Amino acid sequence: MKNAVIPVAGLGTRLLPATKSQPKEMLPVGRKPIVQYIVEELIRVGIHEVLFITGPGKTSIENHFGINHELVQTLREKGKEELLAELEFDRFQAQYYFTRQRQLLGLGHAVLCARSFVGHDPFVVALGDSIIGLHAQSDVVHRMQQCFDQHDCTAVIAFEEVPEHEIPQYGIARPKQDNDVFEVADIIEKPDLDEAPSNLAVAARYIFTPKIFDALDRTEPGKGGEIQLTDAIKLLLEDGERVYGVRLNEGERRYDIGNFESYFQAFTEFALADEKYGTLLREYIASLNRA
Ligand code: G1P
Repeated sequence: MKNAVIPVAGLGTRLLPATKSQPKEMLPVGRKPIVQYIVEELIRVGIHEVLFITGPGKTSIENHFGINHELVQTLREKGKEELLAELEFDRFQAQYYFTRQRQLLGLGHAVLCARSFVGHDPFVVALGDSIIGLHAQSDVVHRMQQCFDQHDCTAVIAFEEVPEHEIPQYGIARPKQDNDVFEVADIIEKPDLDEAPSNLAVAARYIFTPKIFDALDRTEPGKGGEIQLTDAIKLLLEDGERVYGVRLNEGERRYDIGNFESYFQAFTEFALADEKYGTLLREYIASLNRA
């Protein structure tokens, strides 16, 4: 599996004013912008063609994955080898593609924009505002690929258990078995608590065959008047297609950068785990608590 799609078209309104003129996917968490963690996670599992589904104001993402020759030249001339090392991701053997979702009609519609890029191959979808695992050290996509290879199925989705009050914010599965890898019987986008079939929430990583596009073609606007990816998955299930779920491991947290509370948490945790500055920051926070 060599292709991945990263939808980054959202407006990031829950993070205003930070996201007024810069994409939320470019906000730093510790040392790196969010979207770099996601690309690193994908490249580690063998992805080397990445399509970003962008929108207005997202050109800095394109710049981040291009090579800034002037910067490299300047650092080289000044002998700043340690800073050049920070640009190591420039040398990834990956090709980046960018296309615009010209109308913001929802996540399902964004994924539909990847149709001709994907062709006939299975592909990964990684949502641009979620990092999986501290410093993105998760191998959940690898486990999803194994699941996809072992079972005859049309989709594999990552799931995490969420506390009850968060259930209405996510796509929620009805699992057929109570295992780490399970078949999905049904899926509902952002259910009310009384209609939620479990607390297993879609965790921002998916593998699909191109059958998802035919389902998306038939998907009517759902929650929020948007074409929902979850509704297309539900159509696949209704067609008799098989969909699997893979649970995140314990300790394999999903950092959702959709709002300030979770953004602050992610930043703090990543900064505290920083090799060079983590200990200093911990001491600094302790000194604030003493003051
Ligand atoms: C989207 C999906 C939802 C999923 C969530 C996190 O929601 O529609 O099913 O659980 O991402 O992966 P959003 O956060 O865009 O509202």
